[in-house]
Amino acid sequence: MTDTQWWRQAVGYQIYPQSFFDSNQDGIGDLPGIQAKVAYLQSLGVDFVWISSFYASGHVDSGYDVTNYRDVDPQFGTLADFDALIQALHAAGLKVVLDLALNHTSDQHPWFQAARRAKDDPHHDYYIWQPSDGQTPPNNWESVFGDSAWTANPATGEAYLHSFAVAQPDLNWENPAVQREMQAIIQWWADRGVDGFRLDGVTHLKKNADFADVANPRTDYARDFAGTAPYLAALKPVLTRNHLLVIGEAGGVDMATAKQWLDPEQGIFDLLLEFDHVHFWEANESKLPMTALRENLSKWQLALENHAWNALFIENHDLPRAVSYYGDGTAYPRRSAQALGMWYMLMKGTPFIYQGQELGLPNAHFHHIQDYRDLDSLNYYRRQLAAGTPETAVLGQLATKSRDNARTPMPWTPDQYGGFSTHQPWIGLTPGLATRNVQVEQSDPHSVLTFYQQLIQLKKSVPALQLGRYELIDTHDNQLYVYRRSYNGDNWQVVVNMSSQLATTQEFDLTASELILTNLRVDADSDDQEIQPWEARLYHLRKLEQ
Ligand code: GLC
Ligand code: CA
Repeated sequence: MTDTQWWRQAVGYQIYPQSFFDSNQDGIGDLPGIQAKVAYLQSLGVDFVWISSFYASGHVDSGYDVTNYRDVDPQFGTLADFDALIQALHAAGLKVVLDLALNHTSDQHPWFQAARRAKDDPHHDYYIWQPSDGQTPPNNWESVFGDSAWTANPATGEAYLHSFAVAQPDLNWENPAVQREMQAIIQWWADRGVDGFRLDGVTHLKKNADFADVANPRTDYARDFAGTAPYLAALKPVLTRNHLLVIGEAGGVDMATAKQWLDPEQGIFDLLLEFDHVHFWEANESKLPMTALRENLSKWQLALENHAWNALFIENHDLPRAVSYYGDGTAYPRRSAQALGMWYMLMKGTPFIYQGQELGLPNAHFHHIQDYRDLDSLNYYRRQLAAGTPETAVLGQLATKSRDNARTPMPWTPDQYGGFSTHQPWIGLTPGLATRNVQVEQSDPHSVLTFYQQLIQLKKSVPALQLGRYELIDTHDNQLYVYRRSYNGDNWQVVVNMSSQLATTQEFDLTASELILTNLRVDADSDDQEIQPWEARLYHLRKLEQ
């Protein structure tokens, strides 16, 4: 491992700036608010923060519709605030990763404002156009947020492409000028001291050149990964020259492509956020499909062994809360939050923790459409109602799936608004803040927060948990996830019951091993063959032969 691979031994923490901490009491989190909580990040033990998009924005897609890539949105503060923040984070030993939406700008961005005026405008070719009569979309392509991916632009007799919201026109990456703009933006932030980027939506960059109808109108028009390679290659020099950590959000990426993109010599990314383990869960909501889960995660673990490195995550700002979605937020809220933490974090790779995950926050589970802010959720509601779905059913789906479930203010204290602000926050809080907040959990040795601190410490101090080979121990059941990590003859085993029922197994014998960490408060009987609901155990297998 070289110095430039510091991130292999690191734990990352994702900050959603709207909801982290509000320093000026306007109900919206901000950059000085992050600075005010640097000591908390240090106490957690994380090594770098990824801060979700905070550039000047049109506020349509929560900061991911950028109007100026070289400025901070006024709601979050100023560039001077950013400079102060990065200085404080660096002084505390934390590295800083910014989010960068490459696929699209805001329709309010000056490039697009110029581009839409006339076909011969120098910026016109920054975006993707097709002739349009203003009525019929050029083809059947759909946006990720629903409806046609095309919006008419009468001034030029065309329609522009938007893979996401109408207010997020897609950039034309075929145009070398677009590539140069993004290179310059990356250099500009590197000069301000940032340590890395999370490149947003990279699997959307390359569009089918024939603009013909596709079989799956939501995804099929932008999955040309070979065609994406030249775009990424154009960014590589500026990223490499500045020794930046490069994280790619790569929904839908296949294994062969991932291996190429992650290749330490030929590739561009250090870490890829892929969503296999999230998406097949969506299809099997009622129960965790343990066999598929074991196969999928083990496939990624083994494929990147001796080659590249995995990113490990179960939450982000686009997903519901893990404890509600994968765990049991009703009967075992604390225990299942802890079990999920051990399960994913001790695999091989760099773990990411999304703010509030370390507190075991469940879904916000809002009851009224007025509570929602996320445009994707609001669009979904509108479309479902138009299609005749009863409102209660739609609200039920949003309560489990909406991105707003994880975008609520971070509860710091049991006070009003969780101590996030003295002003009513921009979005409601997650229920249960009297017991689930930083202050209370910090002083409780059995809290989810304390457990996460222990996991982070173990992950960072035990070489086998960091660098060791991953091996699945298949229990052939629908409850247990068991794996081993081995490094230079030092062996560790993780046993997690990912169900709300008692699990029994004859598949392994741990009598000779030392139990290092468990999430059961009263030490359950040390029976190896009986694992309590959502119990998680970490063993050091001292007596095991190599
Ligand atoms: C990424 C972001 C998401 C955003 C989308 C479109 O997937 O994570 O929040 O909505 O890009 O910009
Ligand atoms: Ca504020």
